[in-house]
Amino acid sequence: MIEKDDDINISEITGKTLYLNRREFIASAAVAVLSTKTGLSYVRNQDISTNEGQTSFDVVANYNNFYEFSMGKTDIIDLAKNLKVRPWSVSVEGLINNPRVYDIDKLLRLFPLEERIYRFRCVEGWSMVVPWLGFPLAELVRRCQPQSSARYVEFVTLHDTRQMPGQRTNVLTWPYVEGLRLDEALHPLTLMAVGMYGELLPNQNGAPLRLVVPWKYGFKSAKSIVTLRFVEHQPLTTWNVTSPKEYGFYANVNPRVSHPRWSQAKEHRLGEFTKRPTMMFNGYADQVAHLYTGINLTRDF
Ligand code: MTE
Repeated sequence: MIEKDDDINISEITGKTLYLNRREFIASAAVAVLSTKTGLSYVRNQDISTNEGQTSFDVVANYNNFYEFSMGKTDIIDLAKNLKVRPWSVSVEGLINNPRVYDIDKLLRLFPLEERIYRFRCVEGWSMVVPWLGFPLAELVRRCQPQSSARYVEFVTLHDTRQMPGQRTNVLTWPYVEGLRLDEALHPLTLMAVGMYGELLPNQNGAPLRLVVPWKYGFKSAKSIVTLRFVEHQPLTTWNVTSPKEYGFYANVNPRVSHPRWSQAKEHRLGEFTKRPTMMFNGYADQVAHLYTGINLTRDF
């Protein structure tokens, strides 16, 4: 079903308390309303942002992982430049009472956008600090009205071999699929990113919609998403299926659990010379550790 109009009251969608909190947040003195070149307005969420130095835009836009285009890192900016990101539909489906196909621009209007500066840690050992622009996934999830049987959310990337040359090879199974437990998806840190550095996402960084889960390794943050599917059972996620001994479903950043081929104890913050220690849950333990009580994170990594 295609959503046609914009006349849904946002307070009905997000729940009154959340809406009021957000209004208070936006109204609070410390918050300025900013806007992108394309005219989208957003507020900077200082409370949730790190004040560590930001990685430069040029680094973040020129050093990528996006296997749909290449297994390289520096050629993706060029290979992805013609990816057609408008029009773009996102299907939200599965075990929910409110399934919809949203036009991406409709999604951009539905949810108030925030800038959040997050640490980002790739499983390969590099890290960055990125000012993302997006909306909390929780707001979209609430709007979908998950049924009680929905326990996970599956995120699916575009599958289009004409546009994505890497999909003509079998380095991974296509489409790229990632997944979160429903409570992880509802966590206030979990972001659906539509932009970075105050502008819409460059194609190579996952335009027009990508997931960002700052306490997990970067491979969880599926790019160029076309489907969010609410399911009962843990989804078969691309990297976990490809190499289960190397890439767990949870993928929580954990300096104590080595990748079989390298240690995860330290990381190379792009732009810095010396490596720095990696933090448990990428430094977000206070906010997220409670999600994993009772789970053995060495076995269920
Ligand atoms: N999403 C898709 N669809 N395909 C990919 O190959 N790579 C993942 C993640 N999302 C990937 C993806 C990995 S391994 C990382 S580290 C991040 O994207 C990299 O994001 P960046 O290029 O914006 O830094």
